[in-house]
Amino acid sequence: MRLMLFIAFEWKRDVLLQQYISIERMWRIHRKKNNVCITILTCVCLGNLLLYIAFTNLRAEYVKIKHHSDGRIQTKLNVKEMEDGEEHERYIVNEPFKCNQRNVDLIIVVCSSLDHFKQRKAIRETWGNSAENESVKLVFLVGTWLQSRFSKINITFSKEISTYRDIVQGDFIDSYRNLTLKSIYMLHWVKTYCSHADFLLKTDDDMYINIPNLFKALNKQILTKFLMGNLISGAKPVQDKSSKWYTPKNTFPEVYYPPYLSGTSYIISISVLSKLYNATKSSKYFWLEDVFITGVCAKAAGIFHIHRNDMTFNTPEPFGCSLKSLISGHKIKWQNMYSVYQAVINDDSGVCDKSK
Ligand SMILES: *[C@@H]1O[C@H](CO)[C@@H](O)[C@H](O)[C@H]1NC(C)=O
Ligand SMILES: *[C@@H]1O[C@H](CO)[C@@H](O)[C@H](O)[C@H]1NC(C)=O
Ligand SMILES: *[C@@H]1O[C@H](CO)[C@@H](O)[C@H](O)[C@H]1NC(C)=O
Ligand SMILES: *[C@@H]1O[C@H](CO)[C@@H](O)[C@H](O)[C@H]1NC(C)=O
Repeated sequence: MRLMLFIAFEWKRDVLLQQYISIERMWRIHRKKNNVCITILTCVCLGNLLLYIAFTNLRAEYVKIKHHSDGRIQTKLNVKEMEDGEEHERYIVNEPFKCNQRNVDLIIVVCSSLDHFKQRKAIRETWGNSAENESVKLVFLVGTWLQSRFSKINITFSKEISTYRDIVQGDFIDSYRNLTLKSIYMLHWVKTYCSHADFLLKTDDDMYINIPNLFKALNKQILTKFLMGNLISGAKPVQDKSSKWYTPKNTFPEVYYPPYLSGTSYIISISVLSKLYNATKSSKYFWLEDVFITGVCAKAAGIFHIHRNDMTFNTPEPFGCSLKSLISGHKIKWQNMYSVYQAVINDDSGVCDKSK
């Protein structure tokens, strides 16, 4: 047995030795080739380094992280932290100079999701494009995919950011339950970067907004401090456990929601923005965005509602003629955005006359 082991060991050592010798020989023979390999490897490494530097620079242009005076950089945002009155909003992608013009009448914030590239494109090519001018500005507000903030800015997204310069990305996870947080970011962003505008329009990426009609409505306003939209009164928290909107008693203890505006589109006069933002910090966080911002917080801040029938959350027919006389329409697929736009702006198409 010992002998066998010894032989096996010797044999193995032999094989190893053989291998070593042949590797050494190969190394000598292929030294020249190896030099070429090393050169190639170095080039690849250098290339990667250059790419890395390019990407970090690209990031640096957009990354705006608020550092605290004591050197802290917080990565989490929770209700308890928000109660101490400090501002916690941080932006991964920002357009701080969007409102650089002196006279901005309206800043439009379209709340979007990171992967809604087509929806944003459709808005840019339809009502969003015709809205933007010297005094009307538009940004899309999105969150992040994951907690790790930089890992998910992929090529598609970074191209979109640098091509259109209309993306603001807040440092929060994009999810249905975080829509309220998105709106708090919206208030903070406008307060910080666009506080000289007159009005803020909050809307979503499945909405059509008839901007000229909106301006007609705003120009007729005599009041200067208000929230304007489709007022919903007497709504109750949903108690049906199978519903998407199920609200357990402990998250909203009252029987009725305070009167609030449909979150699909509403206007905030900038003169009350700061007050409203402050109220979001002192009120108990509630995940239904419109109930919280335009109901709970507006009530706490004592802000007046103006009801508009024509800021609808109805879904128009695909060709969208009804939107000629409305301010907003809801649930518009990106594919239909173009025909709605054509119907609204093009009086000669005849589509709308026929449908009457
Ligand atoms: C980036 O992510 C989005 C959303 O997940 C995806 O639609 C897109 O194809 C991705 N782009 C690349 C180049 O991976
Ligand atoms: C909301 O975003 C915050 C900040 O990124 C995150 O900590 C939290 O888990 C998110 N909540 C939900 C329900 O996605
Ligand atoms: C921008 O567009 C709005 C709405 O169409 C219009 O009322 C306003 O006069 C325009 N402003 C400028 C400077 O062109
Ligand atoms: C909002 O809160 C900040 C900080 O607490 C305060 O300085 C500011 O005056 C408040 N704004 C309004 C309009 O109440």
